Amino acid sequence: MAQAQRKILVTSALPYANGSIHLGHMLEHIQTDIWVRFQKLRGHLCTAVCADDAHGTAIMLKAENNGQTPEQLIDEVRQEHMADFADFMIGYDNYHSTHSEENRELSSHIYKTLRDNDKIAVRSIVQAYDPEKEMFLADRFIKGTCPKCKAEEQYGDNCEVCSATYTAMEMINPVSVYSGATPIEKESKHYFFKLPEFQQFLTEWTRSGTLQEQVANKLAEWLDSGLQEWDISRDAPYFGFEIPDAPGKYFYVWLDAPIGYMASFKNLCDRKPDLQFDDYWGKDADSELYHFIGKDIINFHALFWPAMLECAGYRTPTGVNAHGYVTVDGKKMSKSRGTFIKARTYLNHLDPQYLRYYFAAKLNSTPDDIDLNLADFIQRVNSDVIGKVVNIASRTASFINKKFDNQLFATPIEQDMIQSFIDAGDTIADCFEQREYGKAIREIMRLADIANTYIADKAPWVLAKDDATLPQVQEVCSVALNLFAILATYLKPILPAMVADAEAFLGKELTWDNRTELLFGRTVNKFVPLMARIEQKQVDAIIQEAKEEHEQAHAAAQEPQAADIEPIAPEINFDDFAKVDLRVALIVKAEHVEKANKLLKLTLDIGAEQRVVFSGIKSAYKPEDLTGKLTIMVANLAPRKMKFGVSEGMVLAAGPGGEDIWLLEPHAGAKPGMRVM
Ligand code: MSP
Ligand code: ZN
Repeated sequence: MAQAQRKILVTSALPYANGSIHLGHMLEHIQTDIWVRFQKLRGHLCTAVCADDAHGTAIMLKAENNGQTPEQLIDEVRQEHMADFADFMIGYDNYHSTHSEENRELSSHIYKTLRDNDKIAVRSIVQAYDPEKEMFLADRFIKGTCPKCKAEEQYGDNCEVCSATYTAMEMINPVSVYSGATPIEKESKHYFFKLPEFQQFLTEWTRSGTLQEQVANKLAEWLDSGLQEWDISRDAPYFGFEIPDAPGKYFYVWLDAPIGYMASFKNLCDRKPDLQFDDYWGKDADSELYHFIGKDIINFHALFWPAMLECAGYRTPTGVNAHGYVTVDGKKMSKSRGTFIKARTYLNHLDPQYLRYYFAAKLNSTPDDIDLNLADFIQRVNSDVIGKVVNIASRTASFINKKFDNQLFATPIEQDMIQSFIDAGDTIADCFEQREYGKAIREIMRLADIANTYIADKAPWVLAKDDATLPQVQEVCSVALNLFAILATYLKPILPAMVADAEAFLGKELTWDNRTELLFGRTVNKFVPLMARIEQKQVDAIIQEAKEEHEQAHAAAQEPQAADIEPIAPEINFDDFAKVDLRVALIVKAEHVEKANKLLKLTLDIGAEQRVVFSGIKSAYKPEDLTGKLTIMVANLAPRKMKFGVSEGMVLAAGPGGEDIWLLEPHAGAKPGMRVM
């Protein structure tokens, strides 16, 4: 039965504007898009909005590193993100930015309402501060030695080696990752949202059916242990919105990020007169509101956000739907393994619908992780989509095209089977509604198996060989194409382009409700192949490209940056310098040193005597190229015992390493033993 038209607003989490969209993000946008397309296909008024999350320290510093303004960076990234989503067939009704006028106004308004309701506390706190960069440092921007186990290079809040937790200032030798400076402690005024005052409200709200059971249970643990006030301000320099009554203080990125959902919708309303902002966000709105998010950002959406909305007089979400994390071949996505795959890298090699299908087949309504198993991906898509579904049409369509002049059989037959396909739509719709996409797909594939068995049993290719049985070919193929049309309807939210091609062939726009209208007695159009199989080499090419991107980025990061240059050593005076006795030396012998990776053994003639010196220049010079060459050595360096023998001085060589090390070579006319300095 057709339901009354629902009004639904849907959001996906707003991707940060400082990096590319990757397949982890894509899981979320695909999950959202399938749900939205399903609702639209059912005839509901469903609107989907998203935006880039453009604020915060990371974006500010990335822009600075690129030599751009933050506005330039976020514009560029937003264009890139929008192209990625469009090419993945993700159809947002609006894709905005949190750095927008609508968001500034809404954020200020909400903040002022919280303040006027006495839900904002102001007090001074002490934080780590980088005196060179002149900014406060979040814990993850401080590195140092763990005070407990002495592991080096640990971040400012906990030790990855011994799991100790501490404050950044308790570390041994803490340094700012920006400047290398030692952080100092500095006090400043911060603004806090009084979350504990919403304890009662949140306890009820999180149990009101808005959340998945696992999520509600997790939140109950936090709620039981008591809520903390939430710090919503950051000091300048910060890329964000200045707090209205607090010059120099900015909203923390996570304050205005969810308000970005409202802002994106508001921006759309201003262009679409039939959408009213208050119908969707007003306290008594009769519409539904769903947020699709990853499991890592639940507390922002299920604690802070509903409390803010409640306090500011808006409606709260109907549902917060958390999904799990994408892993590839059972492991966290990894840049060096080539499994940290950007949306664009994927698109360079494969049809997005393959991934839409695979993720759908794996998705359910829980926040459990989703594994993209590459071998299974190829096998599953090829066998289900091409082998089962597309096959129904490709085995039957050409007979109708060629032998029957595009004409389907006139009278409905096999009505029981067709009706069972139609009836299954109710179960399948429930599955989509509940975000049990995997279950929906299992049901669709069960039906596809029935259709294929029917075709195999009737074997129209055999019937077509005999004029006496030729009329039956039209019957069988017409039944098959009716079954195909119903399955295509069910798959339309997942495979929009494939089904659009199917619609062009069938000459019918498929909707959930009109699947009951059978196709007998109609004509179809020329069949064009709907989808090709995935080839292993296409997947290999994606992994290869992802690895190369990583290697290039890595190489670029190795180039010296201002911040990487070592500090200049303590000053010496001229007398110190003059103590160094530099002599021209003739390399009389150069030899490999057994088991040494870097060293060559040089025998040097400095006129009055010969010296043996070990020098780390093996990566740049072959011994045979060195004999007979002149170089410069420090002749009065105290002999040093090394693993391979005693080194009696040092030759002068310089360079970044590898093949790029250059011996200092005086003019060929110089005499061994001549003092250079
Ligand atoms: N900007 C915030 C969200 C603000 S919403 C008001 C943010 N951005 S994000 O770019 O880090 O992540 C965006 C979404 O992608 C989040 O829902 C996050 O959970 C999801 N994912 C990021 N990496 C993911 C995987 N590897 N797998 C699945 N989802 C992942 O958080
Ligand atoms: Zn430790």
